[in-house]
Amino acid sequence: MGCGTVGASAARLLLNDRETRRTRSSADIYLRKVVVRRRESALDAGVPSELISLDYRDILRDEDVGIVVELVGGTDFAGTLIRESLQAGKHVVTANKALLAHEGPELFQTARKNGVSLAFESSCGGGIPIIRALTDGLTANNIDAIYGIVNGTSNFILTEMIENGMSYSEALGLAQESGLAEADPSLDVNGSDSAHKIAIMGSLAFGEAVALEQIPVKGIDTLQSEDVAFGSEMGYVIKLIASATRSSEGSFLRVEPAFINRDHPLAWISGAFNAISVYGHSVGHTMYYGRGAGGSPTASAVLADILSIANGSYPALFSSLLTWPDLSPGARLTPA
Ligand code: HSE
Repeated sequence: MGCGTVGASAARLLLNDRETRRTRSSADIYLRKVVVRRRESALDAGVPSELISLDYRDILRDEDVGIVVELVGGTDFAGTLIRESLQAGKHVVTANKALLAHEGPELFQTARKNGVSLAFESSCGGGIPIIRALTDGLTANNIDAIYGIVNGTSNFILTEMIENGMSYSEALGLAQESGLAEADPSLDVNGSDSAHKIAIMGSLAFGEAVALEQIPVKGIDTLQSEDVAFGSEMGYVIKLIASATRSSEGSFLRVEPAFINRDHPLAWISGAFNAISVYGHSVGHTMYYGRGAGGSPTASAVLADILSIANGSYPALFSSLLTWPDLSPGARLTPA
């Protein structure tokens, strides 16, 4: 559902890479239907006309559809699509961080009730498998801190301003043209998109739901060019940093622009890339880096979720450590 930047890339991967998928899964995974508001958006992405539908209920009624991929964005209609898909017994893959940050607990509850998965690797960090890291690779750890650059658009704008002398609005326009920005780019530059992502990652890492409204958020939209120039003069680079830390006093999440010393690895992250540091009590410091926005990287994460659901391994990711997404005391999602 949805054939914007990410939807079109995911559709192309599904249409073209069937042979690659055969080496990763015994299931034959293929694109059954693409639901859009305007046929042209799907035709432009190369979707064959006979696969295009204008009515999402076509998907819900189709017994050959096992997995619904929601790439519509926004919260209202996307929420309805996801809820109805889960209730129809379809697994759902979504990149929708805003919706998960606002309504995650309820949606995961609906998934559990209907015995299906709600997978969201693509919601944070674009193509970086950060959700897998938090829910699988680092399971042995108490996570004490996560911090980093999680909005590609803001990092792209700051990089263009600092390295290429571009104005704020020129750089934002270029980010929009490149398909990095959200449909409403104010979510990128005012820090909300970073807040959605750190709320999801913090909830997973700390095993508790984080209330979005308790996260102090500042974006790059309040920065002046003088701030950027002042930082450079003093040997610092300004980055939009999202962080989640936990101590004996509780957990604390925030999003804000920060001066980063030029020698720090986060200062070296240019363009639409993301970099996320995670500290676990056993593993110590780990860092994840890659393309954090854009169609192709995000579609990579979407396909990863589709494959793990098809292989029956997705719910197992949630079997061992999480109370979030299930908030009921002691609840665990039973592996399939
Ligand atoms: N608009 C988002 C960003 C896309 O720039 O990071 C990826 O979530």
